[in-house]
Amino acid sequence: MTSSGPPGPGGPAGLRPRLPSPLREVVDERFERRGVRLLLKRDDLIHPELIGNKWRKLAPNLAGAAGRPVLTFGGAYSNHLRATAAAGRLLGLRTVGVVRGQELAGRPLNPSLGRCAADGMRLHFVDRSTYRRKTDPRTLAAVLRAADAEDALVVPEGGSNSAAVCGCRALGEELAGRADVAAVACGTGGTLAGLAAGLGDGTRALGIPVLKGGFLPDAVRALQHGAFGGPRGDWSLDDRFHFGGYARITPELEAFAEDFEHRHGLPVERLYVAKLLYALVVLAGEDAFPRGSTVAAVITGRPFP
Ligand SMILES: Cc1ncc(COP(=O)(O)O)c(C=O)c1O
Repeated sequence: MTSSGPPGPGGPAGLRPRLPSPLREVVDERFERRGVRLLLKRDDLIHPELIGNKWRKLAPNLAGAAGRPVLTFGGAYSNHLRATAAAGRLLGLRTVGVVRGQELAGRPLNPSLGRCAADGMRLHFVDRSTYRRKTDPRTLAAVLRAADAEDALVVPEGGSNSAAVCGCRALGEELAGRADVAAVACGTGGTLAGLAAGLGDGTRALGIPVLKGGFLPDAVRALQHGAFGGPRGDWSLDDRFHFGGYARITPELEAFAEDFEHRHGLPVERLYVAKLLYALVVLAGEDAFPRGSTVAAVITGRPFP
């Protein structure tokens, strides 16, 4: 399916998202015994290839591509790179992926990068020091030149820019009045920034960082400032559940995720969603949610086969 038609109300024509995404209650004794209802906001069902927050972030960006190639950044297993490559194939847009790690250039592609390439993404590998400086204008200009993509629409790592944050506001609007707390796993903070803005009074947003570093409060504030001109919504972060950092999965977390899958038949993405659900179970056990309250967990991803 290709389309270069104008953006429809739900994003670029041709993507056909399932929106609003389903909101389902699950009965889980760990919440029930604390008098708390658990809802799963199934953003993983929005689109078979642009899963969860990927659709919400990419659709508004791609709507502005106007036929230009789309260039973005990611690590060797980046969900965002795969989603961008898939969107490029679906919409007939050229895509370029700038990949962290020059050393990967001469090796066979891993399954994630292989999928990107199969979807038509041109991969451009850069060394880690250049990758770290990719937002510096001179470094970015040099990368665009080297990648032969000077006319490209540049989407930042993780897809989090103002357009993406505005796209994620719709997630909050879908949850407004449906829960007391809406919880999401955080990488760059773009999803939380938009979610909090859309919720309105009466529902607070809770972010669970999956990376170490404590940079998220400033990042979320900056993203909201860029997207909306100032702070929006009631949001907070709980920094206790990163399990040592990005992509760190302990045996305990793995066991938790497998158990959750068996209990509820939900395929649990390990890098983000498992940490979110684990955090919510711990918080329920700590009575962090008042009796009678409803917590919605945003399922932002699905495991990569
Ligand atoms: C599955 C999944 N959930 C959550 C996130 C976090 O999103 P954000 O970077 O907007 O905080 C990501 C990051 O891209 C992700 O891939």
